[in-house]
Amino acid sequence: MKFSDFGFVNTNNMLKNALVGGYAVPAFNFYNMETLTAIVSAARKTHSPVILAASESAIQYMGDDMLLGLMTGICASPSEQIALHLDHGHTLDACIHAIDLGFSSVMIDASNKSFEENIKLSHEVAKYAHRHNVSVEAELGILNGIEDKNTKSTKSSYTDPDAAAEFVKRTGIDSLAIAIGTSHGPYKCKTTDDKLRFDILKQIEKKIPDVPLVLHGASNVHQKFLDIINTYGGKLKDACGIDQAQLRRVAKTNICKINVDSDLRLAFTAAVRKTLKTDAGVFNPRDYLVPAIKYMTETCVYEITHKMYSKDKI
Ligand code: G3H
Ligand code: 13P
Ligand code: ZN
Repeated sequence: MKFSDFGFVNTNNMLKNALVGGYAVPAFNFYNMETLTAIVSAARKTHSPVILAASESAIQYMGDDMLLGLMTGICASPSEQIALHLDHGHTLDACIHAIDLGFSSVMIDASNKSFEENIKLSHEVAKYAHRHNVSVEAELGILNGIEDKNTKSTKSSYTDPDAAAEFVKRTGIDSLAIAIGTSHGPYKCKTTDDKLRFDILKQIEKKIPDVPLVLHGASNVHQKFLDIINTYGGKLKDACGIDQAQLRRVAKTNICKINVDSDLRLAFTAAVRKTLKTDAGVFNPRDYLVPAIKYMTETCVYEITHKMYSKDKI
């Protein structure tokens, strides 16, 4: 399939527009009909461009055919600016597979490899992707936390601004994910710095002013969902995320794409836990999946309006 057959666009224009406009485009992770429904309806409610992000393990979970069916079901039109993006692809094969399926954008994450190996792999992906008009994100620097079975790190390293300039030049990628102190998952206080390193971000912006930057690990980890989860039998005691003010500041910089997964996982889980605990007679999954879609949609709308877009950009 070609991504245009689904009505998707690549991320080049949406990120360039965000760079010029001083806002960020959300990338929300999906892995089933419920997450996808929430993300797409929030984008439509807010008239926001959106990046539908699927990790390698999410693709495996859905299966190629089911994923393609879900994509057809969105009935996207190019004017809506919806991109389908591979999140944290770890190999050239994974990126080729996604592109051949109809993804409009891929991330090659070779950030755990040496600088030269990262350049080599990212460049190979860029060559293949660009032949198919697919946009490419790569990563330099290491985030803390668990992303998937392939990416688990306990030692972060900030992105080096000089290396970032060389990396972009030699790989030909379209956007760059950087490490400035965020981490993946809902336990950011243990692994994330109190304050994001805006000084490093500024230096990177100076070196590569025309390159859209990407922030991973950007969930707020909303207290209201932690409270619901913990009230109704969950045990997420030390969970915490990145504060709202810092993320709003980030969205006005050259960071043009902000990745959110954990916030939707928490919203989903909060709705399911609450429904099952408050009505012990519930056995129809739709009775807890409908509230889950509602909580996730509200979360996406909130994140888009309060975090990614400054009010005047909507
Ligand atoms: O940063 C990556 C995402 O949170 C994906 O996680 O591989 O469990 O789908 P996943
Ligand atoms: P969070 O775990 O903060 O939601 O980050 C998600 C992410 O970076 C997906 O690539
Ligand atoms: Zn990530």
